[in-house]
Amino acid sequence: MNAATASERAYEALTASRARTDAITAADDVHLTAQVDPLMSPLVWDLAHIGQQEELWLLRYLERADAMLRPEVDGLYDAFEHPRATRPSLPLLPPAEARRYLGEVRARVVERLAAAAPDFAHGLVVQHENQHVETMLGTHQLRPGASLLTPTQSVPAGRPVAGDAVTVAGGPCIIGVDGTDEPWSLDNERPAHRVEVPTFRIARHPVTNAQWQAFVGDGGYDRPELWQPAGWAHRLEAGLVAPKFWRPDGTVLRFGTEEQLTGDEPVQHVCFWEADAYARWAGGRLPTELEWEKACAWDPVAGARRRWPWGDEPWTADRANLAGVVGALRPAPVGAYPGGASAYGVEQLLGDVWEWTSSPLAPWPGFTPMIYDTYSAPFFGEDHRVLRGGSWAVSPDAVRPSFRNWDLPVRRQIFSGVRVAWDAA
Ligand SMILES: [Fe+2]
Repeated sequence: MNAATASERAYEALTASRARTDAITAADDVHLTAQVDPLMSPLVWDLAHIGQQEELWLLRYLERADAMLRPEVDGLYDAFEHPRATRPSLPLLPPAEARRYLGEVRARVVERLAAAAPDFAHGLVVQHENQHVETMLGTHQLRPGASLLTPTQSVPAGRPVAGDAVTVAGGPCIIGVDGTDEPWSLDNERPAHRVEVPTFRIARHPVTNAQWQAFVGDGGYDRPELWQPAGWAHRLEAGLVAPKFWRPDGTVLRFGTEEQLTGDEPVQHVCFWEADAYARWAGGRLPTELEWEKACAWDPVAGARRRWPWGDEPWTADRANLAGVVGALRPAPVGAYPGGASAYGVEQLLGDVWEWTSSPLAPWPGFTPMIYDTYSAPFFGEDHRVLRGGSWAVSPDAVRPSFRNWDLPVRRQIFSGVRVAWDAA
């Protein structure tokens, strides 16, 4: 990519992520400053934090510029210092000041981008802003009352698909990427390395609401033998009986509005323990992230990785349910994206719902921390499980087949779903 093209890409992606932030925070101050759930920040915290991280990496770090915020204000936006539950009690910038600050940072960033080639840090900042947009969408989903959001996309119709699986033959593949091929890949996606993955089968589509209803109807939440001991303990303690936002009368709350459950839509808002129990009920298990990435990116005929599941051409709206601006606010029905199938014929790997894998977050061999050196490394270990593929709330600028997300196994306010895998017959 030449310098002009790289600058244009950075400028376009920065502009696109800001359009998303603006759309999602276009609400009255009362909504921006309220905390709707202890798991989430008030939206105005995310807003100023987006600007503060952009200033940190693109002005203070790259340009050696002085801080624009006073130290006592700057510190309020340190995510490690202030857990989400405590953020509403902080003396945060009011919404108008937060917006002004974001605008001032961006104006300086754009001025510099016209004069110098973009850096990896530009990609980091674009992805960071998009990640917070998804988090803010999660906050909106938890808000009681009528939705403040309007979808900016619709989803294609599904098609009748058998609940079938494909076989991924054993053999070597390349897992992970290098910065030369994916300049915006983050530290935990690198480096590319060769892995032998034994033969397995994987579902062609994510698990649907109708399939989940069958699991519920078959006593899935009442049969300890389907659950890992820690998962069963959590199921009892948290009183889990259905995915979050499902209601006993068969309706579901989507952004504050009651809807009938859509049978062919991928299930979302399930935690790792629920996903794991479902997979066991279905006679299978969750895929490992190596299996998931091979099914998504490996082309066994070419003996090479693809940049996207469908090939090397960039994302288009007919290939995956990813968010342009606000997004569709929902997963697309299964079968909606035959054009997004991977080389193995697996569909809807990117977009719709994040897919839980059985893998804890661990560094790839040869891992080197990036400039934001606390992005991944503090989370390596058994505490977190990896999710893959992005959701309907994710921008195509912030996801790739190599992208690794992670969360605690009990979390389900996120747009998380399931795809089942099976050992080879
Ligand atoms: Fe952040």
